[in-house]
Amino acid sequence: MDTVNAAVIYYSATGAVHTMARAAAEGAAEAGAEVRMHRVRELAPASAIELNPAWAEHLRATADVPEATLDDLAWADVVIFGTPTRFGTPASQLKAFIDTTGPLWQQGKLADKVYAAFTASSTAHGGQESTLLGLHNTFHHWGGISVPPGYTDPIQFQSGNPYGASHVTAAGPPDEIAREAARYQARRAVGVTATLKAGRAA
Ligand SMILES: Cc1cc2nc3c(=O)[nH]c(=O)nc-3n(C[C@H](O)[C@H](O)[C@H](O)COP(=O)(O)O)c2cc1C
Repeated sequence: MDTVNAAVIYYSATGAVHTMARAAAEGAAEAGAEVRMHRVRELAPASAIELNPAWAEHLRATADVPEATLDDLAWADVVIFGTPTRFGTPASQLKAFIDTTGPLWQQGKLADKVYAAFTASSTAHGGQESTLLGLHNTFHHWGGISVPPGYTDPIQFQSGNPYGASHVTAAGPPDEIAREAARYQARRAVGVTATLKAGRAA
């Protein structure tokens, strides 16, 4: 059977979403996928970043993570996006990357892939669901196949978010529950993709 190509494309300012992206990448690999974990380009001015030491430090610490390109999307059979919640919506850095996908979309190259999304916010009711559903709006425009985790695994009753893996950072960095939810979400998305890919090849 063909290997599934899985892209984890994320933005993270202070590291929470990066930790979840790593967990998602682990989950995708556990499910047998070839994985690319790439970050979208930082667009904020250095003057804003340097005012927040955690932001500046994370940017430096992840300088070796490759920047996401349109080729990652073209290559992938399944794309899992990660973003912090920003006033209830995805981060503008991730949105800016998404806004460069017009040519791929026009050629139909974003259609028929599997998509999923995860997030982090500082508060429990701070807009995780609207952020995730906002990304799924885009997947609909692409003709993608949304694969949310739902409550299809016991970890989902612990993490509690059927729309996508998520973490509330007020309590600290992503814990094992949030990381396992991200791993599970990726395993599930890759599993569905493998089934689709095998069916299409048959
Ligand atoms: C501009 C801005 C807007 C934010 N908006 C929200 C929000 O609407 N709700 C919330 O709970 N947290 C909000 N946060 C907090 C981040 O979502 C939270 O710190 C997130 O976990 C950071 O992820 P990161 O460490 O990967 O950058 C906001 C942070 C910033 C800087």
